[in-house]
Amino acid sequence: MSEIVSRGRRIEVLFSADELARRNAELAAEIARDVGTTPLVIAILKGSFIFAADLIRALHGAGVTPEVEFMGLSSYRAGTQSSGAVSIVRDIETDVTGRRIVLIDDILESGRTIAFARDLLIARGASSVHACVLLDKPGKRAVEFEADFVGFPCPDRFVVGYGMDVGHAFRELPFVGVVASD
Ligand code: IMP
Ligand code: MG
Repeated sequence: MSEIVSRGRRIEVLFSADELARRNAELAAEIARDVGTTPLVIAILKGSFIFAADLIRALHGAGVTPEVEFMGLSSYRAGTQSSGAVSIVRDIETDVTGRRIVLIDDILESGRTIAFARDLLIARGASSVHACVLLDKPGKRAVEFEADFVGFPCPDRFVVGYGMDVGHAFRELPFVGVVASD
């Protein structure tokens, strides 16, 4: 397994930059086929910002002309455990009435964050909401939720990089990795 050192910590590579780029092209083709060419794409901040930036460019390659929005959601967590409460830190500025929406998030774990976003957008009048997540930790669901598009199933480990952080660190890594415990 390949690894790098950053901030004095060893980071094991779980999904390389090449694997992520290949999968993004496949996801974009799936989204074009199932949602069509004019979705409103909403990236859930902060963790999805790099995935969203790459996926949106892959969507261009798949012939999709999306509008792009950002929603900041915070699920309160003590350390690495989610407590359940989700709050809106930054709302979108677009009227979603009648829109076909693709929600983008980094990780689907308990499902609370993305289920909250989907329910909110449906309540505001969206005509459909599809969910696209880079990583799915399927054993960890607290609410019933399945994403329509999944990059990779993820082992039950705390991952960093490609936008995802632990304690505000490691978002800049161009791959998804795990901090080695040493
Ligand atoms: P949930 O599905 O509501 O439990 O929350 C998923 C969110 O928790 C993700 O969008 C991430 O922001 C965060 N999260 C869950 N697992 C990890 C991880 O392994 N590394 C970094 N963030 C994580
Ligand atoms: Mg998140």
